[in-house]
Amino acid sequence: MKTSRKDFLKTVTTLGVAAVLSPNLIMAKGEIKEEAILKKEKAVNIAFIGVGGRGRTHVNNIAQTKGVAITAICDIDPKAILKTQKLLTKNGFTNVEAYTDGEHAYEELLKRDDIDGVIISTPWLWHTTMAVKTMQAGKYAGVEVSVSNTIEECWDLVNASEESGMPCMILENVNFRRDVLAVMNMVRQDVFGEIVHARCGYRHSLLNAKFNSNPLKFGKGAESEASWRTQHSLKRNADVYPTHGLGPIATMLNINRGNKFLYLTATASKAVGLKDFIEEHPEGGKDHPYAQLPWKQGDVITSTIKTSNGETIIVTHDCNLPRPYSLDFEIQGTDGVAEFQYGNQQIFVEKHGGGHSWEPLNSWLEKYDHPLWKKYEKEAMGAGHGGMDFFVDREFVNAVKEKRQPLLDVYDAAAWSAVTPLSEASIAQGSSPQYFPDFTRGNWINRTSLKFE
Ligand SMILES: NC(=O)c1ccc[n+]([C@@H]2O[C@H](COP(=O)([O-])OP(=O)(O)OC[C@H]3O[C@@H](n4cnc5c(N)ncnc54)[C@H](O)[C@@H]3O)[C@@H](O)[C@H]2O)c1
Repeated sequence: MKTSRKDFLKTVTTLGVAAVLSPNLIMAKGEIKEEAILKKEKAVNIAFIGVGGRGRTHVNNIAQTKGVAITAICDIDPKAILKTQKLLTKNGFTNVEAYTDGEHAYEELLKRDDIDGVIISTPWLWHTTMAVKTMQAGKYAGVEVSVSNTIEECWDLVNASEESGMPCMILENVNFRRDVLAVMNMVRQDVFGEIVHARCGYRHSLLNAKFNSNPLKFGKGAESEASWRTQHSLKRNADVYPTHGLGPIATMLNINRGNKFLYLTATASKAVGLKDFIEEHPEGGKDHPYAQLPWKQGDVITSTIKTSNGETIIVTHDCNLPRPYSLDFEIQGTDGVAEFQYGNQQIFVEKHGGGHSWEPLNSWLEKYDHPLWKKYEKEAMGAGHGGMDFFVDREFVNAVKEKRQPLLDVYDAAAWSAVTPLSEASIAQGSSPQYFPDFTRGNWINRTSLKFE
């Protein structure tokens, strides 16, 4: 018997759309199986601006995500385009247009009407401009860290999102690190009591990333981050990379969601690390022109943030001296304290055994392991940075698919990025306090705590 359109609609109404699309869609207790829906749904189209080292990690992850189309990429470097095309072909995407004709080629990409979301992984000074134009073109913006360089740019980002109605996600992958999410669970479940203090930072020798070797080079004509990142060490005495540490702590403290950053004070040490590196480098030396440059960025920059709920957060930027990698995480409350950087994971909880000694954090991390990690561990482990890159890309794609705000939104991007210009102003004015603008326009009072799902 032929089904008329009227009968079809009637069936849809009775059974629900999913049941009509496929009998396999209805699961126990009425759940709908994700993959089954994706086969039927139109794929969301994700484009990429900036496909250097970081951009290609996103391309690789997203090319392996179900329900995604990729039809456009952009980079000014033909070598980066070539490597990305190879990666895409390997993943079955053969019909991808490359926009590569100059620094504004991305504006042509944004004119396409088949794109739903754009991942931006360019040098910092491009982030806000590209994100604003992406939102104005009616597309979701996913932006690498840090997002904005000045307070004016933070506002540009917020204004563009509010005026266009398009979301902007700060792609802070560390918010999805397994131990970070487990500790966030512990904070939410009051393991540490009322939180009083936290510490975080980016303590990572970037000496070999800031200069290409053979010959020693940075700036125009250098490769990768040496071509743009090092310039910030020459020109700015500021914490230029605050979000890997601060993003997770801000989420644990519900910043922009019932709490907010109030002000910060910042202090910079002397700046001798880069000069020393150049002088001791086999292709450098005391007479090398780079050793004579007026390097401005203090080697260790310490900012202390005060929140409206009364917590303090110490944020450290420390990239110009030889040292092992650490994000320097610590969270401390009325009942205990945990340190959870790589290589040093320990906890002290007063009600748990007492005494004055730390205990290893492992068993606590297992007990409070986040449901997201339990569910997607296998898929995540193949992605970058120990799995957290899988989750940050998954969240961006899901927000685009579900037409909702991403977990880490434009207000997070603005508040976390604001540490750069505010630390710079504080250092310049003898560590004077600098107040954070309220990018939520008062709405932090009613916005609710984040649930990572
Ligand atoms: N979240 C993380 O773990 C993580 C890791 C590394 C880098 N990053 C961030 O990712 C971003 C990119 O870093 P990277 O290491 O890939 O640097 P990179 O230098 O390797 O790549 C940047 C790319 O942008 C391209 N580009 C520059 N100007 C452009 C323009 N106008 N239009 C199109 N393309 C342009 C460059 O040609 C290059 O290929 C930075 O913001 C960095 O801080 C984040």
